[in-house]
Amino acid sequence: MKELLKVNQLETTFFTDDGPVPAVDTISFSLYEGEILGVVGESGCGKSVTSLSIMGLIPSPPGKITNGEILYKDKDLTKLSQKEMRAIRGNDIAMIFQEPMTSLNPLFTIGNQLTEAISIHHKKWSKKQTKERATEIMKLVGLPRAEELFKEYPHQLSGGMRQRVMIAMALVCDPNILIADEPTTALDVTIQAQILALMKDLNKRLNTAVMLITHDLGVVAETCERVVVMYGGKIVEQGYVNEIFKNPQHPYTKGLIQSIPDMRFKKERLYAIPGSVPKPGSVKVGCRFAERCEFAFDRCRTEEPELYQIKEAHTARCFLTEELVVHE
Ligand SMILES: Nc1ncnc2c1ncn2[C@@H]1O[C@H](COP(=O)(O)OP(=O)(O)OP(=O)(O)O)[C@@H](O)[C@H]1O
Ligand SMILES: [Mg+2]
Repeated sequence: MKELLKVNQLETTFFTDDGPVPAVDTISFSLYEGEILGVVGESGCGKSVTSLSIMGLIPSPPGKITNGEILYKDKDLTKLSQKEMRAIRGNDIAMIFQEPMTSLNPLFTIGNQLTEAISIHHKKWSKKQTKERATEIMKLVGLPRAEELFKEYPHQLSGGMRQRVMIAMALVCDPNILIADEPTTALDVTIQAQILALMKDLNKRLNTAVMLITHDLGVVAETCERVVVMYGGKIVEQGYVNEIFKNPQHPYTKGLIQSIPDMRFKKERLYAIPGSVPKPGSVKVGCRFAERCEFAFDRCRTEEPELYQIKEAHTARCFLTEELVVHE
């Protein structure tokens, strides 16, 4: 597998009135050509901050990439100028944002917004060429009735259709990497399944590598080959989805697996991991999951575990996995 993007020791900090908030705390992972990588974790774990860091869109102030590198095509994206980053966003890496309505302009028609986005990339194209391309992309993402939709405004569309428009906008530049931040959270289950199927289909047909961000490991199981599990700004487990489901190591991952809604067994109440994600930087010593962990012992509260490598492509940040580490 060829590495397309390498995030190395990335740290992103927000400098707030209450002091520095390390929202992403020294994380490393790679995205390989043509794969769908899941990034999973509860609200506040640092998933969006990770993707905004890659896109060069961390609001500054108060935010700043304070350490590490993001390597893409022999360049470190953290070192690029605003202008160079705009070019990367326009041609290489596209993102579908968590809130579709905030990224579509309510005052312009779908046609306006799509053709505008296309014209930015193909300045010399005629109106007709641009419209043809817009219609083609709309078909690609499963939006029928292009003619009518062209004249409609975002609020006239259903949530699922809006999300398809967002995906269409992201595909305009024919990106190598697509970052999809919770693309299905606001949708009902049926539409959610359709959007995920569309993402998989696009990934296959266009060979676009996808980083799919979600709080739902069920979505990961359906869609991704590999997964990165984040907790409190750190990666706590990483590996192939099959392996992680068969052999989860971190108690947090186990909790997330237990929390997947399972339609086959109509449980009366869905399992939820007790407690909540600590504010970034608030756990000063020990494992940041210890407070919520049913397996925690003394060492977990005084020392932070490192990422232990269990198999070639499987790592977990838990003392309980230490004994599983294979020493060659
Ligand atoms: N603009 C900001 N100013 C200060 N802190 C911020 C800012 N944006 C994010 N953070 C901090 O970063 C942490 C991680 O936020 P992030 O948006 O990455 O979470 P997330 O994993 O995407 O959650 P969700 O599932 O709710 O989208 C937050 O808990 C917050 O403390
Ligand atoms: Mg988010």
